[in-house]
Amino acid sequence: MIRPSELTRSKLFTLFLLVGVLARGAAAATCNGHAALCDRRYSNITFIGSHDSAFVGTGLADNQLEPIDRQLASGIRFLQIQTHDSNGTIELCHTLCLLEDAGTLSGYLGTVKTFLDSNPEEVITLLLTNPDKKTGIEFNEVFQGAGVDVYAFVPPGNLTLDTWPTLGEMVGSGKRLVVFMDYLADKSVPYILDEFNSFMFETPFDTTDPVFPQCNIDRPSGASPAGRMSLVNHFLDTNTSGLLIPDRSAAETTNSAASIMAQVNICTGLYNRNPNFILLDWISIGDAITVQDQLNGENSTQVSTPANQTSENSGQTGGSQQDPSKETGGQGPATDSVANSLFQRWRETPSNIAVVLACTILFMAI
Ligand SMILES: *[C@@H]1O[C@H](CO)[C@@H](O)[C@H](O)[C@H]1NC(C)=O
Ligand SMILES: *[C@@H]1O[C@H](CO)[C@@H](O)[C@H](O)[C@H]1NC(C)=O
Ligand SMILES: *[C@@H]1O[C@H](CO)[C@@H](O)[C@H](O)[C@H]1NC(C)=O
Ligand SMILES: *[C@@H]1O[C@H](CO)[C@@H](O)[C@H](O)[C@H]1NC(C)=O
Ligand SMILES: *[C@@H]1O[C@H](CO)[C@@H](O)[C@H](O)[C@H]1NC(C)=O
Ligand SMILES: *[C@@H]1O[C@H](CO)[C@@H](O)[C@H](O)[C@H]1NC(C)=O
Repeated sequence: MIRPSELTRSKLFTLFLLVGVLARGAAAATCNGHAALCDRRYSNITFIGSHDSAFVGTGLADNQLEPIDRQLASGIRFLQIQTHDSNGTIELCHTLCLLEDAGTLSGYLGTVKTFLDSNPEEVITLLLTNPDKKTGIEFNEVFQGAGVDVYAFVPPGNLTLDTWPTLGEMVGSGKRLVVFMDYLADKSVPYILDEFNSFMFETPFDTTDPVFPQCNIDRPSGASPAGRMSLVNHFLDTNTSGLLIPDRSAAETTNSAASIMAQVNICTGLYNRNPNFILLDWISIGDAITVQDQLNGENSTQVSTPANQTSENSGQTGGSQQDPSKETGGQGPATDSVANSLFQRWRETPSNIAVVLACTILFMAI
């Protein structure tokens, strides 16, 4: 004999499960801040990337002015980091840990996890360098320790440009962190993707020519562009007696839409497609997000600091019919709760509401 309170509880439980299943099955409303990106393959989207994203400050070895939580809040979704061994710990150091140590990889990944946790419709890419030849086991331990491995995307094999999932599929599956490594990516860790094996090519880096007059394939040397995504290194160094130093004084020019687009046009002329990734120093200066949106066929979003993004009118400014509060997802602060966003996503599909209403009536009638 089932007592009424138990019956009610089991009804509620079933209803709860049903809502959960529907919420998971529903399509994402926006992907990286734009509804139109949900149907685009990851490999058919341009991401402006933060070069040496962890080296924040105004010292000679710094590359960025804003910490990564603010870089993420501003709409940057591609983060490059240099890893080093510091007495057995993986730290983010610039060339040498004595020169600049921006803290542990573990701490950095914690910040990335916080963002992914509170922004369930955002896909982030990390590009790790591995000059000290740390092993896959060591990297995996840090990713697991930070709890961010659960978000990591594992491809079914080598992916070509037309077999990458769409952003919507990635958001739907929750596998929203793509991790590349430049060298010595260990096959035993399936989510650490070997950048140069088959996935990507890069143009020359540490350029000192402010014109960026080329889009040549530098790495892997002699590679064919076919099937590979392209990474354009658009950051400028000055050569001070042989020392290459990030040129902060030129950041406004280097990061202007005019300068970035001039190099992009060379790339599209050579390879017939937009670059996938464009790395910048001093990413908070210039037109990074405007260019990203334009290359993705989206109107530019108003970029501001996390603190000022709470107003209703900030965020997406152009032609979209969407509720502006949703469109700010990509560029806005990391304040959405997971539950909120799931509900918002679920609510998008009117049939979900009809099904739940029907089921509720049915259950109450039993
Ligand atoms: C890339 O996305 C655009 C916009 O949706 C689409 O028109 C184009 O066909 C896509 N290209 C590829 C190769 O999928
Ligand atoms: C390196 O680690 C060892 C053993 O854990 C410790 O004794 C030593 O002080 C550490 N050195 C530095 C520079 O942190
Ligand atoms: C993936 O691509 C690499 C480089 O082209 C090749 O060596 C490897 O055999 C490929 N793996 C599979 C499973 O096709
Ligand atoms: C930087 O300048 C030094 C001379 O001071 C020169 O030997 C070196 O080739 C230059 N490097 C680059 C990348 O321009
Ligand atoms: C945004 O807020 C920050 C501090 O919270 C402030 O420094 C900055 O000037 C503000 N920017 C705008 C455009 O209001
Ligand atoms: C961008 O804005 C223009 C005019 O402001 C509008 O005509 C166009 O449809 C918009 N495009 C998108 C993708 O929102």
